[in-house]
Amino acid sequence: MIAPSILSADFASLGTEIDAITGSGDGRADWVHVDVMDGHFVPNLTIGLPVVESLLKRTELPLDCHLMIEDPDRWAPGYAEAGAHNVTVHVEAARDPVMLAKNLRAAGAKAGLSIKPNTPLEDHLDTLRHYDTLLVMSVEPGFGGQSFIPEVLDKVRTARRLVDTGHLTLLVEIDGGINADTIEQAAEAGVDCFVAGSAVYGADDPARAVAALRDRARA
Ligand code: DX5
Ligand code: ZN
Repeated sequence: MIAPSILSADFASLGTEIDAITGSGDGRADWVHVDVMDGHFVPNLTIGLPVVESLLKRTELPLDCHLMIEDPDRWAPGYAEAGAHNVTVHVEAARDPVMLAKNLRAAGAKAGLSIKPNTPLEDHLDTLRHYDTLLVMSVEPGFGGQSFIPEVLDKVRTARRLVDTGHLTLLVEIDGGINADTIEQAAEAGVDCFVAGSAVYGADDPARAVAALRDRARA
């Protein structure tokens, strides 16, 4: 699956930017990745619930909301209640990640847990079984256009192994620095869903970029 991140899109034209990846065939995105940043958990400030609510009315594609915010226990369920398909919180920020996953699911969303590049996965394996998605960050969260950190693929391999041996049921997602050069190694490590911001919205034709990434991931 390919989830273009609108962080690299034109914020003045988000509707048409999403239309560009809503066609048919391999150029159609599977999810739209929405980066919510609060200026505290990460040193950047982007968009919040009102914009997500407008996007939900505007697009039929499932919204994959990645909350890079403090106190997700308080704020994340609102995104699920609004209708986001997937609501992902950071393990470094959540006070009670198990309760939070339950609240997200009760509100009708899939629950995602994200982990920063330097956070060990081993410390959170017990929590993971309450989640539907593991979002492995392959850059420090906060900005698009950074370089891929290959060391995080060990976490992808660990998660893949736990899923393939029936110990966990979740999608493995990767976010940061994914492009035509890096996607193959991520696919090989066992990623199910690839977030790509600058590689899609920095391209002249976002749909072609989505199709090209899909093609490389299958290689
Ligand atoms: C970074 C965000 C990413 C970002 C990825 O904190 O979580 O989703 O948009 O951008 P690229 O694909 O350009 O690294
Ligand atoms: Zn993201």
